[in-house]
Amino acid sequence: MTQDEMKKAAAEAALEYVESGMIVGIGTGSTANHFIDLLAGVKGKIDGTVASSIASAERLESHGIPVMDLNEAGQLSLYVDGADESDKHLNLIKGGGGALTREKIVAGASDKFVCIADETKLVDILGKFPLPVEVIPMARSYIAREIVKLGGQPELREGFTTDNGNIILDVHNLEIMEPVKMEDHFNSLPGVVTVGIFARRPADVLILGTPDGARVIS
Ligand code: 5RP
Repeated sequence: MTQDEMKKAAAEAALEYVESGMIVGIGTGSTANHFIDLLAGVKGKIDGTVASSIASAERLESHGIPVMDLNEAGQLSLYVDGADESDKHLNLIKGGGGALTREKIVAGASDKFVCIADETKLVDILGKFPLPVEVIPMARSYIAREIVKLGGQPELREGFTTDNGNIILDVHNLEIMEPVKMEDHFNSLPGVVTVGIFARRPADVLILGTPDGARVIS
């Protein structure tokens, strides 16, 4: 089974969490795209969606699935999104697709966060995947120096601007032993919009696609 087929298996299993009349929060990335495509098959069941990126909103709309503004939708019962890494406590690294800030907002506004991923995303310690940090452009060099003080190696994501008009620094060589503490540290730096550590609001359920089908950790 390919990695993409495992992503699809996880997305299929997440459909079980979709209930009638829900407004569903939708993540970003190739796994979330599988979920969007599958959601199209049951779109009559839901009241609408809130998207975590322009790309996901466009894909949802291409299927005729209504996309709402989070301010109008209010508290969501369900958010479904992928991840770049997860530990066994369901702390995540996200932002490989650059949508981390809106993803963290929608996750925060949702009662249940179901994370969908292929089994290769489960790790013992977060940080092998370069940690994305969304930064206000004028703070780029300052935040890069702060990252070096932490022992990380910041790399500007070339040619990329977030949906919010900011840049991404991808941080290499960080071993994230204390995810909550590291998340708080980054978020305390002026100029950081969001760090891609999801530990203050981890996932509630992790569905891993494996060659033997979906494996659920909660
Ligand atoms: C986007 C994300 C994605 O969830 C993450 O990058 C995983 O992507 P994929 O499903 O393509 O492996 O955080 O900002």
